[in-house]
Amino acid sequence: GRSVVVAVDGTSGSGKSSTCRAVADRLGLRYLDTGAQFRAVTWWMLRHDVDVHDAAAVAAHAGSPVLASGTDPLAPSITVDGTDVSVEIRSDEVNAAVSPVSAVPEVRARLLALQREIITESTGGGRAGIVVEGRDIGSVVWPDAELKIYLTADPAARAARRAAENGGSAAAGDAARVAATQESLLARDRIDSARAVAPLTMADGAVHIDSTDLTLDEVVELVVGLVTERV
Ligand code: C5P
Repeated sequence: GRSVVVAVDGTSGSGKSSTCRAVADRLGLRYLDTGAQFRAVTWWMLRHDVDVHDAAAVAAHAGSPVLASGTDPLAPSITVDGTDVSVEIRSDEVNAAVSPVSAVPEVRARLLALQREIITESTGGGRAGIVVEGRDIGSVVWPDAELKIYLTADPAARAARRAAENGGSAAAGDAARVAATQESLLARDRIDSARAVAPLTMADGAVHIDSTDLTLDEVVELVVGLVTERV
């Protein structure tokens, strides 16, 4: 059949990555985590002592990190200058710096070109296509996507899931950690929604899924059903 691009945008910690990887695996599609690319650029800036709150300094270095994204949904990877940084990009330090770095137009322009290249490569030559997750995929990166999803969940649900992923347990009463996680997610949402270039927004034609009261499997079923309807 024809190839497909599934664009999945939404708030931080709403379950985009788990959903996208499972959907891509089920449908034999590639997977691109654009958040990992912004995180990798941020990691590079921190590593090279660039002040992440100085937009001009970040812009001056936007072209320096050499990125490579692995698009296997079962083993996604991201390298910067040849070093795999898949673990390092999830640190608190990167969490705190990634939204300011991502608001810099030169960073976005650079990654936009890279993202379009990967999508074009994944949809050509009879390939099945790709699931792409981020904040601006349906609105800016690939407005012609066959399916656009806007995935959200209540902040408390997002923070509890993220804390559980990180080895904590809400049941064990790690309330302070969950509260800090929630504040970090909301701080990123605020900056991502308020920036001038490609802010987080629900794209025209997107299907809104609120995952607060849904299991991961239920969200995956919903999205797989929508893709199947449209291809
Ligand atoms: O998806 P993830 O939470 O890993 O993204 C980290 C950050 O990268 C977001 O909070 C946002 O600042 C930035 N981002 C973006 N545009 C995208 C994907 C991520 O600005 N398409």
